[in-house]
Amino acid sequence: MSEGPVLVFDSGIGGLSVLREARVLMPGRRFVYVADDAGFPYGRWEEAALNDRIVALFADLIGRHKPALALIACNTASTIVMPALRKAYPDLPFVGTVPAVKPAAERTRSGLVSVLATPGTVKRQYTRDLIRDYADKVHVRLVGSENLASLAETYMRSGFVDEAAVKAEIEPCFVSHEGRQTDIVVLACTHFPFLVNRMRKMAPWPVDWIDPAEAIARRALAIVDTLPKNADFSDGRDLATFTSGNPDLAQRRLMHGFGLTVD
Ligand code: DGL
Repeated sequence: MSEGPVLVFDSGIGGLSVLREARVLMPGRRFVYVADDAGFPYGRWEEAALNDRIVALFADLIGRHKPALALIACNTASTIVMPALRKAYPDLPFVGTVPAVKPAAERTRSGLVSVLATPGTVKRQYTRDLIRDYADKVHVRLVGSENLASLAETYMRSGFVDEAAVKAEIEPCFVSHEGRQTDIVVLACTHFPFLVNRMRKMAPWPVDWIDPAEAIARRALAIVDTLPKNADFSDGRDLATFTSGNPDLAQRRLMHGFGLTVD
């Protein structure tokens, strides 16, 4: 299956932030983008149910697309499902996406870092372990946003975003303590980079926003590099597929804009 496409999986259209980086790094590969829009938003799912849903979806996705590698471009999913996916499909390499706590802890100067994620990612033991292992010398505030992923979806489809709502969602990330202020916010949801300019505009003070998409794409490239080149690269079309089976016009337009043919 090494000549197959790279499958990029997300709960919605947020994973396009990872796809765009992956394409730059892997021009010789075909891509299939999978949006589990029937399950969106993942942030509100109970862990075991979400785990089972994604493992079951992959049986069909692997059968249909025969990918060379699967990139789970979703923190909310990756922080629970990676062991189960690797166990269920041992022949397929998987790359996950987890909050960029380590680079944030290495770069902060104030020692105050915030991780902005879905409520699901914030609750995960995986996220707590990352902080314990890589950020024990800094203060990390976990901020679980109920609405940002949906605001990003609306923005991607219609170009509109309620800036006051963005402000309310990001405000808890900004901490002042004994003359120090938060200087890094980790974007720990693939949807958020699409709203980063609005976040910058609505932020009470400037911070660095860490978007891990390029690092994830590099990890995928390191694995893909060990596989033989894609045989059907020249005439292969990149596809997008929606688990609802029924993307609306705005979703279709968006996929088209990313050069993806809707399956
Ligand atoms: N884009 C997903 C993530 O990276 C989650 C958005 C959602 O489905 O709630 O966490």
